[in-house]
Amino acid sequence: MIESFEELEKEIKDCQKCKLCHNRNNIVIEDGDRQSKVMMIGEGPGADEDEQGVPFVGKAGKLMNQAFKGIGFEREKIYIANIVKCRPPMNRNPEQDEINACIDYLRTQVMLVKPKIIVLLGNVALKAILGEEYSITKARGKWIEKKGIRYMPTFHPAALLRDEQKKIDFWKDLKEVKKEIEKLS
Ligand code: URA
Ligand code: SF4
Repeated sequence: MIESFEELEKEIKDCQKCKLCHNRNNIVIEDGDRQSKVMMIGEGPGADEDEQGVPFVGKAGKLMNQAFKGIGFEREKIYIANIVKCRPPMNRNPEQDEINACIDYLRTQVMLVKPKIIVLLGNVALKAILGEEYSITKARGKWIEKKGIRYMPTFHPAALLRDEQKKIDFWKDLKEVKKEIEKLS
């Protein structure tokens, strides 16, 4: 069992557990505060993330940062990670075998961070974490509690780039999360 972030890093470095290892430039593990009560989980790195080794630094990440700013969320105080750590080619969704190969790293991250709240960004994160029976259109905006963690599913920020309408709900969901964070502290 992995018991520290250092051990986790050592374990992921040079990982070849799935085919996504072939085209990556950098493995994208995390960003933010390892002691945060709030974790955000995306899908997987895009081109910018793959280049920089940091999650959510590209277009979608910038949009997310804007929303954070508007709401009064400090990104540095949140822990951010993805379902898969290496970039899927052409930004396609990660495939089930890739998710299965990678998900234990994320489980370890959750175990080490011990968040009270997890925001699931989009369908891939929602299904990989809570189960295939969930879908983002139905589940978004509603708290789901499991094993002492409160989950808030919401749209993936990249979906907001395609559909402006979704921004309203995304902001609403983040505000709900902020309200809950304030109750924790
Ligand atoms: N999209 C994601 O799901 N994760 C990132 O890190 C960047 C874009
Ligand atoms: Fe390993 Fe995950 Fe990268 Fe696949 S995506 S090679 S399992 S770190």
